[in-house]
Amino acid sequence: MKTVFSGIQPSGKLTLGNYIGAMKNFVKLQDEYHCHFVVVDLHAITVAQDPAALREQSKDVAALYLAAGIDPKKANVFLQSHVPQHAELGWMLTTLTAMGELERMTQFKDKSQGKESVGAGLFVYPSLMAADILLYNADLVPVGEDQKQHLELTRDLAHRFNHRYGEFFTIPEVYTPKVGARVMSLDDASKKMSKSNPNPGSYISLLDTPAEIRKKISRATTDSDSAVRFDPENKPEVSNLMSIYSECSGLSLQDVEKRFEGQMYGGFKKELAEVVLSVIEPMQERFREIRESDELMNILNASAERAREEASKTLDEVKKRMGFVL
Ligand code: TYM
Repeated sequence: MKTVFSGIQPSGKLTLGNYIGAMKNFVKLQDEYHCHFVVVDLHAITVAQDPAALREQSKDVAALYLAAGIDPKKANVFLQSHVPQHAELGWMLTTLTAMGELERMTQFKDKSQGKESVGAGLFVYPSLMAADILLYNADLVPVGEDQKQHLELTRDLAHRFNHRYGEFFTIPEVYTPKVGARVMSLDDASKKMSKSNPNPGSYISLLDTPAEIRKKISRATTDSDSAVRFDPENKPEVSNLMSIYSECSGLSLQDVEKRFEGQMYGGFKKELAEVVLSVIEPMQERFREIRESDELMNILNASAERAREEASKTLDEVKKRMGFVL
């Protein structure tokens, strides 16, 4: 059976972008692959986190995974810091990574721009992400568009290791959704929807109330034209809203266009809010149940134990090949 690995950072609230770009595919893939869906808390500390908030957010993301439909009987759901092999392999892969490769990462450039002091962890973060994936010899990595460059580096590092120490790592493939690989901000369609945007009106959090979601969608930027038409170049805002509609309803973009032919934006937005809520409301209900139950930690602990077993096999082999005394 082929293996899938993916992770989401517990650094604030998850957005509809995280759901459409990544989580929705996690649920889809769990039936056909051996899956690891991880709360990547070691990645989250590459920027300052409040310890108490980080603990809560980590459990929130784990509960959201399950609430979105990930079945812990089919997939491993765990916290990255519970499997120390991630950090260990991360270090080893860092030693194989060139400074120039890391300097080229657009996410690093974005996150470090204008900052007086940038943590070294933020810089070497892509090597840790490579370790996450290679530790389980993942074949497929479901992510949004913004992670593609990190995936390319992961593939390069796997090739480099294999070349230097003999064929060992599987070269992973990226898996992105056709329509929602890059969900954009509601206030500015040139930026991706992101939980770190200081304007909460720019993103839909998976834990927003229905009233908040309706308000955010009704205020979303559109254009001075009035046709609900998919044309990302000339109508980026409306096209973004249509992609969200398509991903949440299951209708193709063409069908969305047909459905709203001759209608104004007001009606489209009203229906869009209901379609988004039809996905988010049941998820929130399950989230509350799971988050309050003791079962969550049991699931995370059992998954981490299985993951440690798999990861230690890979790491032993890596250590042997790199010349460590076992
Ligand atoms: P993170 O936590 O920023 O985002 C989690 C996932 O959500 C996707 N995503 C989006 N997709 C579409 N539109 C958006 N606006 C949007 N915003 C976020 C991201 O592409 C991602 O798939 N480095 C990763 C976490 C990570 C990881 C890994 C992923 C660590 N190790 C190993 C895969 C495999 C990150 O920061 O994602």
